Amino acid sequence: MSANIAEVERRREAALLGGGQKRIDAQHAKGKLTARERLEVLLDEGSFEELDTYVEHNCTDFGMEETKIPGDGVVTGSGTINGRLVYVFSQDFTVFGGSLSERHAEKICKVMDNAMKVGAPVIGLNDSGGARIQEGVASLGGYAEVFQRNVLASGVVPQISVIMGPCAGGAVYSPAMTDFIFMVKDSSYMFVTGPDVVKTVTNEVVTQEELGGAITHTQKSGVADVAFENDIEALLAVREFFDLMPENNRSGVPERPTSDPWDRVEDSLDTLIPPNANQPYDMHELIRKTVDEGAFFELQPGHAGNIICGFGRIEGRTVGIVANQPMVLAGCLDINASKKAGRFVRFCDAFDVPIVTFVDVPGFLPGVGQEHSGIIKHGAKLLFAYAEATVPKITVITRKAYGGAYDVMASKHLRGDLNYAWPTAEIAVMGAKGAVEIIFRSEKDDPEKIEARTKEYEDRFANPFIAAQKGFIDEVIMPHSTRKRVALGLRKLRNKELANPWKKHDNIPL
Ligand code: HXC
Repeated sequence: MSANIAEVERRREAALLGGGQKRIDAQHAKGKLTARERLEVLLDEGSFEELDTYVEHNCTDFGMEETKIPGDGVVTGSGTINGRLVYVFSQDFTVFGGSLSERHAEKICKVMDNAMKVGAPVIGLNDSGGARIQEGVASLGGYAEVFQRNVLASGVVPQISVIMGPCAGGAVYSPAMTDFIFMVKDSSYMFVTGPDVVKTVTNEVVTQEELGGAITHTQKSGVADVAFENDIEALLAVREFFDLMPENNRSGVPERPTSDPWDRVEDSLDTLIPPNANQPYDMHELIRKTVDEGAFFELQPGHAGNIICGFGRIEGRTVGIVANQPMVLAGCLDINASKKAGRFVRFCDAFDVPIVTFVDVPGFLPGVGQEHSGIIKHGAKLLFAYAEATVPKITVITRKAYGGAYDVMASKHLRGDLNYAWPTAEIAVMGAKGAVEIIFRSEKDDPEKIEARTKEYEDRFANPFIAAQKGFIDEVIMPHSTRKRVALGLRKLRNKELANPWKKHDNIPL
């Protein structure tokens, strides 16, 4: 017996050492934590229960049978974050560069299967050289097994990817199919083909960082959600983010106590809207003054800033917030904003997270570039997402709600449950200037007449009352009471039931 215990201890020590002290030191020298150190930061102290510690690869080519390292390059298991269960895998770059073998993939699949059985989220910490080259097609098969599970888990349990090192080639498609991607600046990158191949094929010279680093993906491509300075900052943010996540698609949103009064009045909001309709203001202020304790976890803050998406809480329960941002492109909807918010709305709907929408939108962004790049199809994504969503939807129009964008932004017609407008709301087909130029074109050479027509149009449409008379707005509310009205609305909508007609799945314009 004691010999067996000693053997367990010997094997465990070997597993803990991964690819050896030299490689651990090299990992640290790059400013990166090891796979196990990362799990220690991510999970509640002492909560990690490892699975498959002693799994080894089964490759016999290229002398691989001589090099077997227990765990085979990925640490897997479960633990808790602030007491709530989560399944995790953490790729170990010190073991064959974290590359994915058949057995490595089987370990990841096992935690994903376990998470699905019990309805718990999965967090993957990615740090890998991609397919284990020595294993050839076996590792490609392994990736596909993971991909298949990513898809089946989508909309059932939240899946979060943290990219903490290389993630290249087809390997990027596993994180791409998860719900959220976080990256670490300077040490992580994602690309389908790396700088060398890009140089050979297109003659473009680009660094890894420029091609697929954290800044590139959180600002330009929109592939990733948030970029963090280092491993610790990223992992602590994931803990904070995890607290907002439902466990699965049937659990409902998490709830926690809050000392922030549900009926807190914010008088400063009464003067948030500037006197001049063309002057911007920061929509973040309204968001922060509406949610509990001003705490808002924003997604993709560096990409498509004309729309803001993220999670907050009202009365301690998670809500998804979508808001036009007048400070960027005047809050217009463009291709990137539609894709960003469309995907966010779909996450909320899949996981029963109520959606609060703040609207100040002058329309879709005009331009040849937008049209030729398919604003029609991409704009339709957001429209589709809002229209199919059956979760509680509360909308507050603060200022402009013009044209098609009025319809899109969780309007009454798309089954908005409570549609509020501030007294400053302007709900119309378009702004006064554009409207007058079209319907009074014959008077265009008479500035006095045009001014009078503009005033007439503004008096008639630059307010929320016509929409309110038709019941398209449920109530005109005072800005200072926004939190209270949203909180009350969400309370009343807690047991909302609404189903879409049976279908295998819809055909959202991809
Ligand atoms: C096996 C690998 C490996 C891999 C790295 N290693 N990648 N072993 N398969 N894919 C090993 C190295 O041999 C080395 O072993 C150790 O990991 C560390 O690698 P280094 O190169 O020393 O590290 P670094 O200089 O930091 O460079 C990291 C790297 C580079 C940029 C990731 O290793 C690299 O380019 N690797 C190959 C990447 C790749 O082409 N992968 C296949 C992509 S295609 P020792 O023993 O020396 O420590 C793909 C298809 C997926 O993934 C398809 C899914 C459908």
